[in-house]
Amino acid sequence: MDKFLITGGRRLEGTVAVSGAKNAALPAMAAALLTDQTVMLHNVPRVRDISTMGRLLAHIQAEVEIPAAGDGAVRIRTEKISHAEAPYDLVRTMRASVLVLGPLVARSGYARVSLPGGCAIGARPVDLHIKALEQMGAQIGTEHGYIEARAPAGGLRGAHIVFEKITVTGTENVLMAAALASGKTVLENCAREPEVGDLAELLVKMGARIEGVGTATIRVEGAGHLGGAEHTVIPDRIETGTLVAAAAITGGNVRITRAEPAHIAAVIAKLSETGAAIDTFEPGTLCVQGSGQPAPADVTTQEYPGFPTDMQAQYMALATQADGTSVITETIFENRFLHASEMARMGADIAIEGRRAVVRGPSRLTGTAVMASDLRASAGLVLAALVAKGETVVDRVYHIDRGYERIEEKLSRLGAQIRRIS
Ligand code: EPZ
Repeated sequence: MDKFLITGGRRLEGTVAVSGAKNAALPAMAAALLTDQTVMLHNVPRVRDISTMGRLLAHIQAEVEIPAAGDGAVRIRTEKISHAEAPYDLVRTMRASVLVLGPLVARSGYARVSLPGGCAIGARPVDLHIKALEQMGAQIGTEHGYIEARAPAGGLRGAHIVFEKITVTGTENVLMAAALASGKTVLENCAREPEVGDLAELLVKMGARIEGVGTATIRVEGAGHLGGAEHTVIPDRIETGTLVAAAAITGGNVRITRAEPAHIAAVIAKLSETGAAIDTFEPGTLCVQGSGQPAPADVTTQEYPGFPTDMQAQYMALATQADGTSVITETIFENRFLHASEMARMGADIAIEGRRAVVRGPSRLTGTAVMASDLRASAGLVLAALVAKGETVVDRVYHIDRGYERIEEKLSRLGAQIRRIS
C-alpha cells in the first residue's frame, strides 16, 4: 500500500493546472450506456474511480478505451447490453457505480445493481434513486444485497418526481433515465451542482430535451432514442478548492489554471474571509496569495451553491492555523469528521460536538504517522502535513488516488516536499 512522506514548512509557489472533474466524468461515462453509438469524452482525469467505472462498463459489455496518457480522452461504445449488472466487488470499491442503475433500466429494461451500503462518511442510502425510478414505472426489489429493477412493458415513462432531499447522484441517475423514457418528466428539489449541469449538457448533445438545469426544477421531454456525442468534462472544482487551500495554508503564491472559478464561489468567499487574496481576473485562472496568518471563520457545508462538504476536511486543516476559533458545521453527511482525530494527533485542537467541529488555532502541528479514511479526509491530512514541523507519513493513499490525479507531482512542482513510497 502506498504512502506519502511529507516534510512540512515549504511555501507553495508557481503554476498548476486543474484536471477534469471526477464527479462529472463518472455520470458522463454511465450516460454512454444510453446509446448504441460512440460517446467520446475529453478531460477525464486519470484517477482510480475512473478505471473502476471503466471496469464496470466493460463488465456490462461496453467497449471502453481509456488510454493511459493524452488529453484525458475516453471512448465508450455500448452496442448492446448483454449483462445489465453492477457486481458487489465493483460497487463496494466505488459507490458511484449506482449511476448505472438509471441508464440500464431505461435502455435494457432490466438492471441488477449491488446495494452500496454505508461508507466511512455516513450511511448513504439510495432510497431516493429507487423511489424515483419506481415512479417512472420500474418494479424494484432488493434481495441478496442487490437492487433488481425491471421496466414495465413499453419502457420507463415520464413522471412528476419531488426529491425529499437533495441528492447529487440521485438527480443524475433519474435525469439519465428520464432522457430515454417516454413522455415528460418533471424533477423537483434537484441538485444544482455543476456536475449535474455538465451531465445535462452531454445528454442534450446526445439528443435529449432538458430544461431548467442549474435550478431546482428540471423538465425532461423523453427522447426515446439517444445518439453518440463528444464532450469535454468541466474542471474539477474540489481539486481547485484543495489547491487554493494549499496555497492559503502555506502562505504561498500559486496560479491555478484550467479552472472554473465560478464553480467555487463559496470557497473563494470563505478563504478570502480568512485573509487569502484570490484574484480571478484572468478567465479560467485563479491567483492565490496566502496571508501568512489566516483569520478564523465559521463555515457550514451546504448543497451547491453553498460551501461543499467535499472541501470541509481541507478547510479544517486551514482552520487549525487560524488565529482564533472556527466552528465548522457539517450538514450533508453524519460522520464526516474522521480526519479531526488524525489532525489532533498532529497537535490540532479540535472538539467535535455532534455535527459541529470547534477548531481552536493557531496550533503548531508536528509530523507523525496518520491514516486517511476517505478521499477528502486524505486531502485535508496532506494540507495539514504541508505546514507541520518535520515529517508526516500519510497512510492509505489509495483513498486520495481515487479522486486526485498525480497530486504529489502537482504539489512537489509547487515546491512541496512530498513523495510517494510503496
Ligand atoms: C455526491 O455523492 C458526490 N459523489 C460526493 O463526492 C459528494 O460528497 C456528495 O455528492 C455531496 O455533495 C459523486 O458525485 C460521485 P448525495 P452522492 O446523494 O450523490 C442522503 C467525493 O469525495 N441521501 O447528494 O452519493 C445522503 O445520505 C464524494 O468525491 C439519502 O438519504 O451524495 C446524504 O446525507 C464523496 N437517500 C445526502 O442525501 C438517497 O437516496 C446527500 O447525498 C440519496 C442520498
